[in-house]
Amino acid sequence: MKLPVYLYGHPVLRRISEPVDGQYPDLGKLIDDMQACMYESEGVGLAAPQIGRNIRLIVIDASPLGEDFPECAGRKMVLINPELEVLDGERVSRPEGCLSLPGLSENVPRVEHIRLKWQDENFESHDEEISGFLARIVQHEYDHLIGKLYIDHISPIRKQLIKGKLNNIINGHTRCDYPVKYAPKKK
Ligand code: NI
Repeated sequence: MKLPVYLYGHPVLRRISEPVDGQYPDLGKLIDDMQACMYESEGVGLAAPQIGRNIRLIVIDASPLGEDFPECAGRKMVLINPELEVLDGERVSRPEGCLSLPGLSENVPRVEHIRLKWQDENFESHDEEISGFLARIVQHEYDHLIGKLYIDHISPIRKQLIKGKLNNIINGHTRCDYPVKYAPKKK
């Protein structure tokens, strides 16, 4: 089944997600569908709230960025119940986009070194220090699990400047090459 990407303005993107356990129905199929959705929309990561489910599940395939960012080479990951710890507080700004915010890209300050604990699709535990752009992708996707979006990290002035574009997404006036689900209309 092709999963639509829930767009900015949809309340599911602002909720706190719940942990996942091995009993979750059809988890393997859901992971497959999320990966297919990520590839079809040419993203390098997708979090479950973006397909309308508030659970702590993320898929990442950073390998297309491997040439520019060696830490991304070959990194295909399924993150279940990830926990993130900042190892170095210094922030670096780089451009980011998000499948839930089509047509937008903004410089986002993030830390460059994190420690990540997670379970994979077989519920095996992992614990790894992650740096550079891969750490950025993980932080971006992790934010989705706590109801945050990258635009929450940009300056109020910058946010004001893109307000029109944000409203266009909320109101369904955006074009997308992948299936999407718009925010429910306000009555
Ligand atoms: Ni995103």
